[in-house]
Amino acid sequence: MKVAPSILTANFIRLEDELKSVEKGSDYIHVDVMDGHFVPNISFGPAIVSQIGDLTSLPMDIHLMVEFPLDWIDKVIFPTTEFITIHAECNRFKESIRRILYLGKKAGIAIKPNTPVDVIKPYLDQLDLVLVMGVEPGYGGQVFIQSQLDKIRELAELKKENNYRYEIQVDGGINQSTAKQVKDAGATIVVAGTYIFNYQDREERIQSLK
Ligand code: DX5
Ligand code: ZN
Repeated sequence: MKVAPSILTANFIRLEDELKSVEKGSDYIHVDVMDGHFVPNISFGPAIVSQIGDLTSLPMDIHLMVEFPLDWIDKVIFPTTEFITIHAECNRFKESIRRILYLGKKAGIAIKPNTPVDVIKPYLDQLDLVLVMGVEPGYGGQVFIQSQLDKIRELAELKKENNYRYEIQVDGGINQSTAKQVKDAGATIVVAGTYIFNYQDREERIQSLK
């Protein structure tokens, strides 16, 4: 299982130390950009994303929780940007995926808990990542919604049947026990915020997810 700590719940006053504390054992750093419209919360913008990129050796996995991703994609292209994920529920998601791929980055689509896999089925062959939200996006520290496991299974089956390349990522409510559940369902990357950052020994927490 690949692990992407979500920086959202870190202490931003000590950003550099926080980033260093999760490098060992992790595969990506998950970076949540929120615009206060798509979700009822604001996190940070491209300037902070750029600084995060400079302060960690981990590749950035950028999750855009924004209404108009076309306004933001070009601004979060940095040398260590690995994935840019936009939401199926945002404006102009097809053009957004095209733009990410055109700029030479890996493209992902996220689906909220009430969005079925059917909505993104026609685009699965173009994707490098599908993000299944385990909670309503906007805040860390929520409880994983069990009904999302079926969507992970469906995506794993479609990937196998069609030989698709996408990673299956799960974000929200991940801890040791839900990580095991999503792994058994077919997930390949877990994102975890509070489970890692609200605990002193981060290395141990990352290992427990792997
Ligand atoms: C929620 C964000 C998540 C969040 C996860 O909208 O997309 O990345 O940080 O936090 P936890 O792991 O605490 O559920
Ligand atoms: Zn996220």
